[in-house]
Amino acid sequence: MLSNLPELDVPRDEYTQGKGVPKKRRHLTIPDHSELEVVRHFKGLGRANFSIDDTMYPLGSCTMKYNPKISEEVAGNSVFKNTHPYSEAGEELHARIVHGLQDFLVSLTGLPGVSLTPAAGAQGELSGVLIIREYQRQRGSSRQVMLIPDSAHGTNPASVAMAGLVPKTIKTGPEGRLRLADVLEVLDESVAGIMVTNPNTLGIFEHELPAIAEAVHEIGGLVYGDGANFNAIAGIIRPGDLGVDIMHINLHKTFGTPHGGGGPGAGPLCVTRELAPFLPGPVAVSQTVSHKSTVTELGNDSNDGREGSRQSFRFVMPERSVGRVRTFYGNFGITLRAYVYILVHGLNGIRRNSIQAVLNANYLRKRLQPTLSPAFGDECMHEFVCPNPLVTQGVHTIDIAKRMLDYGIHAPTVYFPLIVKEALMIEPTESESLAQLDALGEVLEKIVKEGLENAETLKRAPHNLPLGRLDELLANKKPVYRHRLGG
Ligand SMILES: Cc1ncc(COP(=O)(O)O)c(C=O)c1O
Repeated sequence: MLSNLPELDVPRDEYTQGKGVPKKRRHLTIPDHSELEVVRHFKGLGRANFSIDDTMYPLGSCTMKYNPKISEEVAGNSVFKNTHPYSEAGEELHARIVHGLQDFLVSLTGLPGVSLTPAAGAQGELSGVLIIREYQRQRGSSRQVMLIPDSAHGTNPASVAMAGLVPKTIKTGPEGRLRLADVLEVLDESVAGIMVTNPNTLGIFEHELPAIAEAVHEIGGLVYGDGANFNAIAGIIRPGDLGVDIMHINLHKTFGTPHGGGGPGAGPLCVTRELAPFLPGPVAVSQTVSHKSTVTELGNDSNDGREGSRQSFRFVMPERSVGRVRTFYGNFGITLRAYVYILVHGLNGIRRNSIQAVLNANYLRKRLQPTLSPAFGDECMHEFVCPNPLVTQGVHTIDIAKRMLDYGIHAPTVYFPLIVKEALMIEPTESESLAQLDALGEVLEKIVKEGLENAETLKRAPHNLPLGRLDELLANKKPVYRHRLGG
């Protein structure tokens, strides 16, 4: 077997030279603990963590909604877990599920082409901008500019730059919305397209989007919809009807799949019929095949010889695809969970969830108004953004966020969007009860009062957790991933 391996292409060490385990590895001290100690250690670490199963997690735009256990149960079923994607039955089964989710997303977005392969929202964006570039190129155009509002998530300009196009910023209007007039001012023949998040990251609905889309289409550009906030409108509005040509959806935000610390994720891409041939692949297709009909009785198949037909499913690459962006056909485990989520709720249930998410956010917004005044508007969609009211006390948003941990609630998103200074971006989601919304309201009111009376309490928070303030810069620049023996 070993002789089949290719030649080693790195320098040989003592071990590969046949001298046994290298000296420095011979004296490792192996931790020696009983099973009970190990169990208690890990249970303790689990309790020190914050998760949506333990506490409220009102992260704006990140949408930490409940991940239903039924989705986990189905994903853990051996039928799915043990089916290899290379087996014929495996491909058919997986394609059937992928096709099922594709179909639901078509219904919800009004966009008839779907690829589930991108592994995150940001990868959906990159794939979408590659499609825009390719579409323009095939029309003989070398347009480079993608217009992006200044409220956009950082991944928007990053995806544009990665795809080789040039981001150009448009200022948000005084009501927290993108204005047609501002778009018209920069719209010319250099514009390949525009990227708009709707509702935007301030939690405000972009109601001028249809007029903006019409203007962009008129000069030959395309409209990219960042669907990260789709959970506010799913089942109510189809982005395709607003003039959106391409859109990604973050499955974890709208369909309650796990977030998973940078992956596994899924950012399906939905496009118009005209753009479907450019989609990253493979995508699932179905066809009707005729066969001799099979009657199944108590698990025994018997062929009665009559002609019949059935739907068969398989994967294909779209003919002018921008290529593969991930192995196989995306994160199948996540696709499956999202599919189960939609089956359990039904399309009406998805609509109810969106309405509830908007209602919950508006309730909390109204309740908090005297304490935390939102940066824009009198109402919101699924989230709202407030500037830190304690800046004059020398209290930073991070101090408020850390103090919330003392009260057992995870902080909202902080310092985003960038156009609101020291921002707190709050998204309660539809998962939370009225009592829990009030509990969050009380905590925030208490913290603001504390800040006004004694700012130091906040500046030195958290007080009740196993660890205090971490050096976040150092943690990012020099992360320690390994347990160090003896210290
Ligand atoms: C508005 C918006 N766009 C894009 C993204 C990127 O999505 P992902 O984190 O799945 O790559 C996010 C992520 O939170 C977002 O909030």
